[in-house]
Amino acid sequence: MESNDKQSKSKLFHTMTFGCQMNINDSERLAGQLRTIGYESTDNVEQADLILINTCCVRESAEKKIHGRIGEMKRLKLVNPNLIIGVVGCMAQKDKDKILKKFSHVNLVMGTHNIHQLAELVEKIEQSRERVLAVWDQAERLAPDVPTVRKGQISAWVPIMYGCNNFCTYCIVPYVRGRERSRPLNDIVAEVRQLGADGFKEITLLGQNVNSYGKDNESQADFADLLQAIDQIDTITRIRYMTSHPRDMNDKVIETIMRSQKICEHFHLPVQAGSDYILERMNRGYNTEYYRQLVSKIREAIPGASLTTDIIVGFPGETEENFLETLEFVKSIRYDAAYTFLYSQRSGTPAAKYADQVSLPVKKARLQQLMAVQNEISLEINRQYVGKTVEVLVEGPSKNDERKLMGRTRTNKIVLWEKTGQEVAGGLVNIQIDTAQTWILKGRLI
Ligand code: 5AD
Ligand code: SF4
Repeated sequence: MESNDKQSKSKLFHTMTFGCQMNINDSERLAGQLRTIGYESTDNVEQADLILINTCCVRESAEKKIHGRIGEMKRLKLVNPNLIIGVVGCMAQKDKDKILKKFSHVNLVMGTHNIHQLAELVEKIEQSRERVLAVWDQAERLAPDVPTVRKGQISAWVPIMYGCNNFCTYCIVPYVRGRERSRPLNDIVAEVRQLGADGFKEITLLGQNVNSYGKDNESQADFADLLQAIDQIDTITRIRYMTSHPRDMNDKVIETIMRSQKICEHFHLPVQAGSDYILERMNRGYNTEYYRQLVSKIREAIPGASLTTDIIVGFPGETEENFLETLEFVKSIRYDAAYTFLYSQRSGTPAAKYADQVSLPVKKARLQQLMAVQNEISLEINRQYVGKTVEVLVEGPSKNDERKLMGRTRTNKIVLWEKTGQEVAGGLVNIQIDTAQTWILKGRLI
């Protein structure tokens, strides 16, 4: 009887996701496949029959954290020898042999191009108890779509393209995610329609470089065409996208956003550095003058648009003077927010071999300086919201305080307010802003 009982109970899986939104969406597609073979998700790692660690390798700090986490799983394996542990995604793609060798308790190592094979591979391990390595060097032109189980119910990630062709000299992504492959426009539109029918209100179109959508296939539809097609879907209230490459952000896209009611007035344009010398060495394909003009054009076309960026400090060869150029650049552009990173040497990338690496203490000091400058600007910009009323899409309870609700403005500012009971998740509400902080706004329902 007891064994029957065990059989009818569904098996449990737990995922740990590191890295970018693309990884979060990959984890949703891993979950979707596991459901088809009888697994349910659990938040409690101790109860899981299957643990998947979806990895990132964009910086060393992420890798260190992940190595620690994989190591910790050994303890659970000792308690439950039948536990299946999988290491998947970017780091698995890059370091498959190292992971197999270092972590004997890992059953599955699966790369970025094999995500759609998960169900099949897990069943193989369940039957044979062998260790499985599934890491293709290259992607199939387009991996088959698999079912997705999404975490949220309001906001959904939708991949529009995979891979990257840019080869910025610091970046590992093109090596672990392969060449650019765009999904067919009709598939994306069908997925977004379905999401709308399921009650989702906000869609974020995902790709390493969304502005080069469509360049790899003959369909002729480009990113602006795709935005226009998604804009027609009535059930969706807000459209976002990430990440844009400044070099490829063109007038047609800006005009499309200007005309659209749904595409949010938020531009995330990673500049990476504010020094022409460093931009050249990064192989970014633009200079500061081009970038300034792009920002002016956007601000003229769409007044009130917010602007965020990514910046790397301590790229090889970055002198004090180059860094000061970046600081001045940041001050003059006045970003709403900047995601700032210490340069991390990624072996296999050109910049890792550059002779003039910057020392860690110098990198850290520059990061502090940059963050201090940017935080002040972010706060100044956010203070301009005080007293104003903004439209907010209600996402749900605040993580830290059940009595508060959380949502975002169209400009992607996080807003918190006291719950009144009138709000519905997925609805739009007007919030009057009372206080501003560096990363959040607080207000009350009007
Ligand atoms: N070191 C530090 N930051 C990096 N990024 C990408 N590669 C590296 C690296 N080697 C940053 C870039 C990118 C963001 C997602 O991560 O700023 O835009
Ligand atoms: Fe990396 Fe550059 Fe591609 Fe972005 S555009 S994923 S930074 S290579």
